[in-house]
Amino acid sequence: MPKERAIDQTLTLLSEGYNYLPNRTYRENVNIFQTRLLGQKVICITGEEAARAFYDEERFVRKQAVPKRIQKALFGEHGVQVLDDEEHKYRKAMFMSFMTHESLGRLEAITRREFRTAAQKWTKEQEIVLLEEAKIALCRIACEWAGVPLYEDEERERAQQLFDLVDSIGGVGPRYQRGRKARKQAEKWVADLIRQVRDGQLYPSEDTALFIMAHHTERDGELMEPEVAAVEVINIIRPTVAISYFIVFGALALHEHPSVRERLKEDAGAYSKMVVQEIRRYYPFAPMLGARVRTDFLWEGYAFKKGTLVLLDLYGTNHHPDLWEKPDEFNPERFKDWKKSPFDFIPQGGGDYDKGHRCAGEWATVKVMQIVMELLARELEYEVCEQDLTLSMVRIPTYPESGFRMRVLNLKPAEMIQTKGQHRNHAHK
Ligand code: HEM
Repeated sequence: MPKERAIDQTLTLLSEGYNYLPNRTYRENVNIFQTRLLGQKVICITGEEAARAFYDEERFVRKQAVPKRIQKALFGEHGVQVLDDEEHKYRKAMFMSFMTHESLGRLEAITRREFRTAAQKWTKEQEIVLLEEAKIALCRIACEWAGVPLYEDEERERAQQLFDLVDSIGGVGPRYQRGRKARKQAEKWVADLIRQVRDGQLYPSEDTALFIMAHHTERDGELMEPEVAAVEVINIIRPTVAISYFIVFGALALHEHPSVRERLKEDAGAYSKMVVQEIRRYYPFAPMLGARVRTDFLWEGYAFKKGTLVLLDLYGTNHHPDLWEKPDEFNPERFKDWKKSPFDFIPQGGGDYDKGHRCAGEWATVKVMQIVMELLARELEYEVCEQDLTLSMVRIPTYPESGFRMRVLNLKPAEMIQTKGQHRNHAHK
């Protein structure tokens, strides 16, 4: 197995960011190499076959795969991400029960309403920072969808808290500390709400995450601890707020590729879905995932020993030259003929939703993104302010530092937006 010679590569990883894994696998033309990170031996793998192996439950477990420092900020402790086997499937089924046609339809309606209301306000501002606006709109959307009460005077602070959890991933020092603090505050907030629901002081609608998680019983018939239920409610609202990164990438894509924007104006529906897929493939967000070897096995002739930490390169797989033609070109058309493998396009993980750890909110993300991309391309007239829109490949997660500043000139009335003879509301059903 190709090996990194240096004693510990943690600082190199921090200095190369998203490119650390691809720099080694593409350069050596390999799909595997061994390194040392945070004082332990780590095997890094990339590509479709690597993802297929990584999501084979007989080979890998998640227990002790997520570093404590990440649990104490991004994920929380005892959540679905660190469960295995029956315990995982049982908890995951609860998450997937929010992803029904009805529930996603509700999310869609809330998203459309909230973003249009927000956009109306943007027309009255000199200029707006899209990242900041998207965080707040998504926080309102996430909370309403999940049944979490959110008062107007706290929405900015809660939006920032939920954002800080995600923004802490690759952070050291103050950025990481902000994530830790946000974790404590958010868990206290939501655990109190769980208690109020259980005590009958708060009545969220029965189809919401807050209601279901407050009353969810574990396999032993016991209610989840309020703190664990809070971690799981936050597992819905935090990543919904994190869609704000993708929204900024989407605005960047339209800015850099005016032809995509022009075509979106004409042709929503299938094309907006392709645009959203390409945004999720092209731009760097979740960099990699970790799992531990369950029992010794051989993969492509390499020995994987029980307990070894293995990292799957998400960003690298989405840009792998064996899988994608001209991977560094932004081209939504590539999704027209995409063969829909669960293992080659993995911005939100791969494999199966119910049996494995693949992101529970992938359909929700695509829906929300489609609505916002159509709003940007078809419903809003805006100018992009002069600013530095460079995207660092070192900062994880990354976004243009300016947050995408724009001047919104006009919001078209909903009834004026037509798609090839159809009304927009029916365009992408
Ligand atoms: C911003 C866009 C998002 C990105 C980039 C993203 C990315 C990911 C990734 C990489 C995983 C790990 C997959 C694995 O461990 O194999 C994951 C898991 C998960 N995501 Fe997302 N996600 C996003 C949005 C969402 C949304 C909107 C929700 C909920 C509404 C959500 C809920 C979850 C849950 C519950 C898990 C844990 C699944 C499990 O461990 O079984 N995510 N996501």
